[in-house]
Amino acid sequence: MAPKESGSSWKVTLGVSAGISIYKACDLVRRLRERGAEVRVVMTKNATRMVSPVTFQALSGNPVISDLFEGSGEPSISHIELAKWEDLLVVAPATADILGKFARGIADDFLSTHYLACTSKVLLVPAMNGAMWRHAAVQENVRILAARGHALLSPGRGSLACGDVDDGRLPEPSEIADAALRLIANKGEMAGLKVLVTAGPTREPLDGVRFISNRSSGKMGYAIAAEAALRGAEVTLVSGPVALEAPFGSERVMTETAEDMEREVRSRFPKCDVLVMAAAVSDYKARKVLPGKRKKDGLTWKPELAAAPDILKGLVPLKRPGQFVCGFAAETSRLKENAIKKLKEKKLDMVAANDVSKAGVGFDSEMNALTLFTPDGAEQRIREGTKASCASALWDAIMEARGGK
Ligand code: CTP
Repeated sequence: MAPKESGSSWKVTLGVSAGISIYKACDLVRRLRERGAEVRVVMTKNATRMVSPVTFQALSGNPVISDLFEGSGEPSISHIELAKWEDLLVVAPATADILGKFARGIADDFLSTHYLACTSKVLLVPAMNGAMWRHAAVQENVRILAARGHALLSPGRGSLACGDVDDGRLPEPSEIADAALRLIANKGEMAGLKVLVTAGPTREPLDGVRFISNRSSGKMGYAIAAEAALRGAEVTLVSGPVALEAPFGSERVMTETAEDMEREVRSRFPKCDVLVMAAAVSDYKARKVLPGKRKKDGLTWKPELAAAPDILKGLVPLKRPGQFVCGFAAETSRLKENAIKKLKEKKLDMVAANDVSKAGVGFDSEMNALTLFTPDGAEQRIREGTKASCASALWDAIMEARGGK
């Protein structure tokens, strides 16, 4: 067995437990290998009842381990040897059962015993029924594992095997493989850094039931927070109303209006090293919020709008040397001109501009493309990719602009 130092590829143990989304784990092996990983698969006994180990063996090119004591009396590699070999342990899907065993140190099969011997980085990707996911026991175990320093990918929302549309869905294999690669590539270079991120839209009430908002889904800001946490930063995410799970490793503060968001950002700004304002904050609010539901009277309703606070502008006098502030510029025309205007007016260290008029990127989409502008006149393009990949490139650029500090 090759020791960790030798060989150029990175070595992944993929733990597979018995969730319906196990079929995605087959594809995950391929996506990991595409990214240069050597993969060894460990399956729980129940997982082998859902997909044959032969499938994982063929896909990984390595024997699959599922038992502490196989036919010959021992598996092809011991859990200790495997721990010395691997650079990373990924468990996908991670069921409620395996999360519980890992959290509490129960070692009654190869995967749970191997976990106790594992000294590498760990990436856990939970997937299960939404009610199970929300159960206090599961959430407590997840908190224990996150506090232990393991990376976790939040389950997505979507249609589950049980027929419900709910939280609990395994993220796409390419997303998991990208997160694994980033975990291996980063050396925790953001450890000790305090990062504040805003995300999502704000809601400005008109009356007791209606509000003004915009099409921001919050996905870009959430990806930025998740990436910073993955790189070891201490992250606070101030979020507008969105339908997303809090990213692991960050403290989330939910807000509603521009004024709420401003209050939460201003109180945290003095302590942060980097602020990324990805929220699509409303520029207008109702001058007077009507009590209750305004009744229909068949006439025109002209609610009077007043300016909402510009959060970034208001932070300019509070900014201290060494702090780095990155704003976003959502543009539908004259991208560069408008973005540079915002960079100057809001005294930013960087502005990430995106063209929100393009179909398929930006607002309410899975993909994005950014152009970064800095006060020295430099311009850097982040080409179209998933919001997670844009977030990763954005942090590379921020860290470089800060001079690696
Ligand atoms: N922003 C803010 N407070 C506001 C509006 C925007 O802090 N009330 C921040 C956004 O989070 C973003 C940057 O300012 O980082 C630019 O936001 P954008 O909506 O692109 O521009 P605006 O300043 O609102 O200008 P305009 O709507 O005229 O383009």
